[in-house]
Amino acid sequence: MGFNASSPGPFRGAEILLRDLVYERTGLMFDNSKLDLFIGKLAPLIKARGFDSALDYFYLLKYDAGGQDAWNDAIDALTVQETYFWREMDQIHALSEILIPILLRDDPTRKIKIWSAACATGEEPATIAMRLNEDAWFDRADIEIRASDVSKAALDRAQEGTYCGRAFRALPDHLKNKYFRPAGKCWSISPSILGRIEWGNINLLEAGSVTEAAEHVSVIFCRNAFIYFDTESTRNVVNTFARAMSVPGYLFVGAAESLMRVTDYFELEELGNAFVYTKHR
Ligand SMILES: C[S@@+](CC[C@H](N)C(=O)[O-])C[C@H]1O[C@@H](n2cnc3c(N)ncnc32)[C@H](O)[C@@H]1O
Repeated sequence: MGFNASSPGPFRGAEILLRDLVYERTGLMFDNSKLDLFIGKLAPLIKARGFDSALDYFYLLKYDAGGQDAWNDAIDALTVQETYFWREMDQIHALSEILIPILLRDDPTRKIKIWSAACATGEEPATIAMRLNEDAWFDRADIEIRASDVSKAALDRAQEGTYCGRAFRALPDHLKNKYFRPAGKCWSISPSILGRIEWGNINLLEAGSVTEAAEHVSVIFCRNAFIYFDTESTRNVVNTFARAMSVPGYLFVGAAESLMRVTDYFELEELGNAFVYTKHR
């Protein structure tokens, strides 16, 4: 039998065990054609621990009680935390201009909970907070913004609130000047925005934590994370959101992501210039 790109070949059993363990715990999917990429990302960590093989690293992640630091490092190495302010804004304009008025229609005093569920270094929840502040929603309604990610390092940077260069590539200058102050070569975000956000370290594959975080939440942004998941993991996460969140509940995913044929809980609806997955009951 010959080998091809989708067959990893012999002698790679440990790498496959490691790949499958990462998939099981995080939903991050590296198929056989991406096994070299996967191992390439972890190789510096395996070497830094003084291990000769992926098998030692697998044992550390799977069985070692003190393996949490190793998990944090592995997740940081394997995840893509690319993000920026004012990304895919049609959805966030629609939140401010259309969804919040809908949610307040029947009860203007209700609390509206919004969750950015794969927030990376925080640009997405900060964009939501800036946009809502521009419409003075924080003076007019009881709004809570939560943000979480599986990467602890990304969250540490988010909470520090200092951003450089490409994070600003889409943010209009007047908003950069309004909400940021120079900090050396970078910029630090206004406490009035940072203070609007509650942070949490949540793995989307841990159904218990997701259920707790999604309870009473009306709007979830989970954008540009499902592209790294397979359909099965995406389905599990989306259905956990759906079972826990409020009715009506609104879920925004990235422009490159689709939940068609993934879930029956949501209907795809047009909202201004954006699309949203809505749970009606
Ligand atoms: C490309 S960023 C998306 C950031 C932001 N939502 C956006 O659209 O700009 C993808 C994020 O998903 C996070 N992620 C990947 N797997 C995850 C998981 N199992 N649980 C929670 N977050 C995860 C990564 O750590 C990374 O920060």
